[in-house]
Amino acid sequence: MSDLVIISDDGPVRTVRMNRPEKKNALTLPMYDAMAAGIESAAQNSTLRCLLIGGAPTVFCAGNDIGDFLQMAMGSGALGAPILRFLYALARCEKPLVAAVQGNAVGVGTTMLMHCDHVVAADNARFSTPFVGLGLVPEAASSLIAPRLMGQRRAFSLLVTGRQLGAEEAKAVGLINTVVAADAVEAEAMKAAREIAALPPHGVLASRRLMRGSPDEIIARIDEEAELFKTRLQSAEARAAFEAFMTRKK
Ligand code: COA
Repeated sequence: MSDLVIISDDGPVRTVRMNRPEKKNALTLPMYDAMAAGIESAAQNSTLRCLLIGGAPTVFCAGNDIGDFLQMAMGSGALGAPILRFLYALARCEKPLVAAVQGNAVGVGTTMLMHCDHVVAADNARFSTPFVGLGLVPEAASSLIAPRLMGQRRAFSLLVTGRQLGAEEAKAVGLINTVVAADAVEAEAMKAAREIAALPPHGVLASRRLMRGSPDEIIARIDEEAELFKTRLQSAEARAAFEAFMTRKK
């Protein structure tokens, strides 16, 4: 298990925490693998009743590591297997998912929240998915979930124009549940996770399954997006955007 992702169990709640703050929690392939393993292995542990995805005090997640994107673009263009493993793990996860967000949630940092059941965010949280600006297309089945969640026009604004949402706006469109002060996010998210974990577990699982339906549709969309993503990753516009980020002057 990589220390860039910390998995810790506290009674019935498992926390999966991204821990690469110096790179704003940009996700590398080993980090996706570690997060996927943390989610997948919770399925076999009957003590665990809820999962909490967390980031750092200053940032939730800056999305996929752009250096990794550049590597993929120079190679076959295929999304790394660990990325798909993580996205499938989110889609197939049967236990409730809570997230605690502080600071920026970019790209997959925002789209992973669409798979969560309860999201607590700081008043300084910012949500954005600059896929199209990077020459890419949305992923994580966000092209399916976002229009259902917030309606076509708001989803277009977020996913295609790349417009950033502040915490209150994210709450208004249904992406998150609660906005609290930054220093209260972790405690509030853990409280929510513990409350969910204290409910009758079979009732929670059955209700969640009824509400979500089969994950097959979500998985199929993840695959469809990944095919397009592969083509886009190899486009000249995507490579130019990645190189511009990697060589930018601050
Ligand atoms: N991939 C690789 N490295 C990243 C990264 C990413 N997605 N996001 C941030 N980093 C790195 C920066 O290159 C920088 O590294 P350095 O210190 O070695 O130069 C470090 O993390 C700090 O980032 P910085 O941009 O200085 O922090 P900031 O607070 O000014 O801005 C963000 C934070 C998240 C707004 C900004 O880093 C950003 O826009 N990142 C890219 C987000 C993105 O487009 N992700 C892909 C989505 S599909």
